[in-house]
Amino acid sequence: MKKIKVAIIGYGNRGMIYGSFIQERMDQFQVVAVVEFIKDKLAKAKNDFNLNDNQLYQDADAFFKDKLKVDLLIVSSMDKYHYLQTVTALNQNMNVLLEKPIALTLNECNTIADLAKQKKKYVVVCHVLRYSSFYCKIKELIENGRVGEVVHINQAENVGYWHQAHSYVRGNWRKKEETGPMILAKCSHDLDILYWLINKPCVRLSSFGSLKHFKKENQPKGAASRCFDCIKKEDCPFNCYNFYLKDGREWARQLVGDDLSDENIKVFLKTSDYGKCVYECDNDVVDHQVVNMEFEGNVTASLSMEAFSRYCYREIHVYGTKGDITGDFEKRIITLNDYINGQEVIDLNEITDDFSGHGGGDKVMFFEFVDLLVNKRKAKNLTLIEDSIMSHVMAFASEKSRLNKGEVVEIEQKNKMA
Ligand SMILES: NC(=O)c1ccc[n+]([C@@H]2O[C@H](COP(=O)([O-])OP(=O)(O)OC[C@H]3O[C@@H](n4cnc5c(N)ncnc54)[C@H](O)[C@@H]3O)[C@@H](O)[C@H]2O)c1
Repeated sequence: MKKIKVAIIGYGNRGMIYGSFIQERMDQFQVVAVVEFIKDKLAKAKNDFNLNDNQLYQDADAFFKDKLKVDLLIVSSMDKYHYLQTVTALNQNMNVLLEKPIALTLNECNTIADLAKQKKKYVVVCHVLRYSSFYCKIKELIENGRVGEVVHINQAENVGYWHQAHSYVRGNWRKKEETGPMILAKCSHDLDILYWLINKPCVRLSSFGSLKHFKKENQPKGAASRCFDCIKKEDCPFNCYNFYLKDGREWARQLVGDDLSDENIKVFLKTSDYGKCVYECDNDVVDHQVVNMEFEGNVTASLSMEAFSRYCYREIHVYGTKGDITGDFEKRIITLNDYINGQEVIDLNEITDDFSGHGGGDKVMFFEFVDLLVNKRKAKNLTLIEDSIMSHVMAFASEKSRLNKGEVVEIEQKNKMA
């Protein structure tokens, strides 16, 4: 069997996850290049895939200049590079596995979708939740008519107070200019799930939200600019030492590598952005936002994205004419309340044990895309860019509404459905 020639741009957290799937099936793949800014990560890639130095690039321009034959390019670089890298890849006739967000403006998203169509290439956007056993089960219950007609869905993305501080106050997704509005960066998944479960176009929406807490005016009196020097740190939930040396030690791995000793983490926190006071960062994305949506046929939905929760988890409540469904993504429990026949509790823990990577979604998506490339077989749930774009249309509309005090934004017909 001919091997799939694959290249990766961005060998960080996401790139390495896809890399691990490739390593599982090296008989099926030939890694032809890895592009990564950071030398240590390139060295890891070299080792992971047994590459030569001339297959390692620090610069995507140099990689594209070499015009390698690539069947599948994985774009897992940072958000602001997605557009140019994907357009260039399509122009070089590559299929693309593209991390979300597709791009930082709707025009750019549309350009990518149009170009993929024109070039007859596949772009799969990593909306991995669609492939998780949790959301697949809910979709199946709805499709099998178990709740009658869906009338409304509530979806909550409880970001978690520490995750907010890590990614959206101190970390890479703190500035809208770099990564787009937070409702896009964090919740294109949720908007995608709502659109997929309701299976109808969104016609209008409105949104409220703001950066309420993580700003200078809320800094406790006497607090220092870095946790290290701060006399208030024992009373502060955002004290980085409490987090990265306790519950968040695994999260520190993304920052400091494999040496997770107290000493190594402390040295890193003393000077990096992750040791800054959360009230003195240059963050500008929101810390809470709600979106109310109307879909075709008078179906409604609401989404809340909330920094201030102890845990990081998603919850859903589907309201139907014959029953309702509640679900907690982290507990992996789905409860179906049939109005006539009573309650059925579905414990996904009893059905599968592969919940790694977004409830198993990362892997299912990756290999469904591979199956499409190799066998021209499109799995029922595999979503191509023309369908994924709706979530981005809804995210940009939400941001527009939020900035206009919740004004209703009509969703243009062109962008409603694939
Ligand atoms: N699908 C999901 O659920 C999900 C989850 C997390 C992140 N993401 C997205 O995946 C992407 C990567 O996120 P991550 O968590 O892996 O971040 P990361 O920082 O761990 O990894 C990104 C890597 O890409 C490298 N990089 C960035 N731009 C580059 C460029 N132009 N050329 C070469 N190297 C480049 C960085 O050095 C870094 O090593 C982001 O777009 C993010 O929004 C998606």
